[in-house]
Amino acid sequence: MNRILKKTQLSAEVFRLEVEAPLIAHERKPGQFIILQVDDSIGERIPLTIADADPVNGSITLIFQTVGKTTHLLADKQVGDSIAALLGPLGQPTHIEKVGHVVCVGGGIGVAPLHPIAQAMKAAGNKVTIIMGARNKSLLIMEGEMRKIADDLIIVTDDGSYGRKGLVTHPLKELCEQSPKPDMAVIIGPPIMMKFGAETTRPYGVHTVVSLNTIMIDGTGMCGGCRVTVGGKTQFVCVDGPEFDGHLVDFDNMMKRLRAYKPREDADHQAHHCHLEEAAKALEKQ
Ligand code: FAD
Ligand code: FES
Ligand code: MG
Repeated sequence: MNRILKKTQLSAEVFRLEVEAPLIAHERKPGQFIILQVDDSIGERIPLTIADADPVNGSITLIFQTVGKTTHLLADKQVGDSIAALLGPLGQPTHIEKVGHVVCVGGGIGVAPLHPIAQAMKAAGNKVTIIMGARNKSLLIMEGEMRKIADDLIIVTDDGSYGRKGLVTHPLKELCEQSPKPDMAVIIGPPIMMKFGAETTRPYGVHTVVSLNTIMIDGTGMCGGCRVTVGGKTQFVCVDGPEFDGHLVDFDNMMKRLRAYKPREDADHQAHHCHLEEAAKALEKQ
């Protein structure tokens, strides 16, 4: 079960895996995610969005960035290897309807979870403008896939190495200033980008949906790890989300909670690197 059928490297830090998971492939809807455990010996479980699914082939696609220990271990897996545990589909599916003009904004790896949503919004008959941003050209992923969906595609990079130089909020503001303004925005990326994206659309009253990437442990609403405050109420991202009204999310509180585990994550990552370096040195000596 959960055998890796295909592995592709999309950029220096981003990998795409096609994993055997027939039941999930059949059930999943855009916006949903899985929680996986890479190996029996590694306890950590991490959430990843179901970027695509093929019910006929019985497989799901995961696209992930190597940021720490568990994502690096996942990137070490090869075709034919299995993933120890895969739980899903989890979370509420995206509410898809024809609203008119939808602006989909993806930052960095956020483009991966945005893809199935943009696809479904287009299929529902919306005009879809996609804004994709990355720190530089080499970190930009899925341009071809997004170009197929978008009526208009705008690319921005922080350093100007591709597309327009600047942040995703610049073209988003320009679109909001146009008449007619967009009917809806879907923004997925780092918390700080979603916070400022939501602040950009707020004065124009453009309904804005964000997909939150909180720490998750059980993914079933039991542990409270993914707790956020939305509109003054406590919500669990794993069962009530991951999508929420961006104008109601308390991003500052969410970012504070995300930083809570940083020292431990960095230590684990460092230890994993040391382990890899030792293994490489041992190989060199052989
Ligand atoms: P670490 O060094 O342990 O952590 C790096 C950062 O990742 C942390 O600072 C924290 O922000 C986040 N993180 C760490 N542990 C967890 C955890 N258990 N749960 C949630 N976040 C954690 N990433 C992708 O690359 N592709 C995706 O499609 C994707 N989809 C996601 C969907 C949801 C609903 C959520 C909540 C997160 C998603 N993420 C996705 C983020 C991904 O889960 C983290 O990058 C991953 O957990 C990092 O683990 P690590 O051990 O490699 O890194
Ligand atoms: Fe435990 Fe959401 S991950 S309550
Ligand atoms: Mg980790």
